[in-house]
Amino acid sequence: MKLTNTILVTGGAGFIGSNFVLGWIEATGTPVVNLDLLTYAGNPENLASLEGDARHRLVRGDINDAELVGSLLREHRPRAIVHFAAESHVDRSIVVPDAFIRTNVHGTFTLLDQAKRFWSSLDEDDRRAFRFLHVSTDEVYGTLGPNDPAFSEATAYAPNSPYAASKAASDHLVRAYHHTFGLPVLTTNCSNNYGPFQFPEKLIPLVILNALEGKPLPVYGDGGNVRDWLYVEDHCSAIRAVLERGRPGETYNIGGCCERKNLDVVNTICDLLDEMAPPLAAKTGHGAARNSASVPRRQLITFVQDRPGHDRRYAIDASKIERELRWTPAERFESGLRRTVQWYLDHRVWTENVRSGAYLAWIEHNYGERLAR
Ligand code: NAD
Ligand code: TYD
Repeated sequence: MKLTNTILVTGGAGFIGSNFVLGWIEATGTPVVNLDLLTYAGNPENLASLEGDARHRLVRGDINDAELVGSLLREHRPRAIVHFAAESHVDRSIVVPDAFIRTNVHGTFTLLDQAKRFWSSLDEDDRRAFRFLHVSTDEVYGTLGPNDPAFSEATAYAPNSPYAASKAASDHLVRAYHHTFGLPVLTTNCSNNYGPFQFPEKLIPLVILNALEGKPLPVYGDGGNVRDWLYVEDHCSAIRAVLERGRPGETYNIGGCCERKNLDVVNTICDLLDEMAPPLAAKTGHGAARNSASVPRRQLITFVQDRPGHDRRYAIDASKIERELRWTPAERFESGLRRTVQWYLDHRVWTENVRSGAYLAWIEHNYGERLAR
């Protein structure tokens, strides 16, 4: 039996995965089987626009479930696996690293092993056509000094957080399955994403929502840490390019060539909200009583205790994917951030729904004892 034009996506109810699934069906019109455990970070509401669409099937399940993964592969005979499923938040990995090892390392191993079994059963043409695309992060490379060159595909791995270490381990397993067994794998290492559907535990959506509500905006350390921001749709278009034109066994760095200090990002969000949202009313000195004056949201910024082991700077050298696959980002940071702020303003119901009890418990844990400095 031959491969079909279906793809199997893991973690397609999360932030990047759901953007990818929506973009994939729009761009290609071909079917997606979406395997997602629906942890706190997975939200079927992200895929509401696909309800009743026969091209999308959401399967609630664990990538650690070898039997389930094997049976999905045999049933749907996908031409590719695009693997997003992961525990993805650095701060959580400091508190509960076990979940990161389980999903990111053992889960990726299980998926690879089932993919290898399925792939081995294919005829020669299909074995050549099949792809396993592993979505990874720039955090595997560690941290940069202010004048260091950006991370290239040749940069040595030096992961610093349990999250980064678990992703590095998964990257190595993917590499090994190519080297040892010939599985046609592709790995992408991308910088920080932002955009619609990002869970509000990450910097940008957290700051947007807190600033809307007049809550403190927690900036870790001195706010001078640098991230290289990429609009999520650009990450998705890069993954499509790698899937279609990437060379098996290769890794591709993906980035927006857009380094920003955290404090600058937070200031920009404050200014955008001052412009785009109702003004923030000033509190008088007496509890909840308010006067009619408004205050700039920058005043909500609160410097808090730093993240342990906090990487200072990430920057991606994306010249390989540009040169080999002719991919470049379409969105600039300023316009992408404006679109993102507008999206959160337009989707208050989505935000209310994701702020479940589990999320509130995390906020209490992460910020409750993080003293203001
Ligand atoms: P996310 O946390 O928003 O979503 C992860 C998804 O995986 C969720 O839907 C969750 O339910 C699912 N999941 C978790 N454990 C699972 C399991 N055991 N089995 C099946 N599904 C499971 O993450 P994201 O930000 O969308 O990141 C997606 C991928 O991209 C991750 O692999 C991450 O390492 C990588 N990445 C993220 C960024 C970023 O800025 N967010 C940057 C580069 C790379
Ligand atoms: P985050 O969105 O968690 O992504 P990552 O740690 O994967 O880069 O954080 C982005 C940057 O923002 C990082 O340097 C940590 C910082 N940060 C804060 O200053 N305050 C916060 O409340 C959060 C969540 C992050």
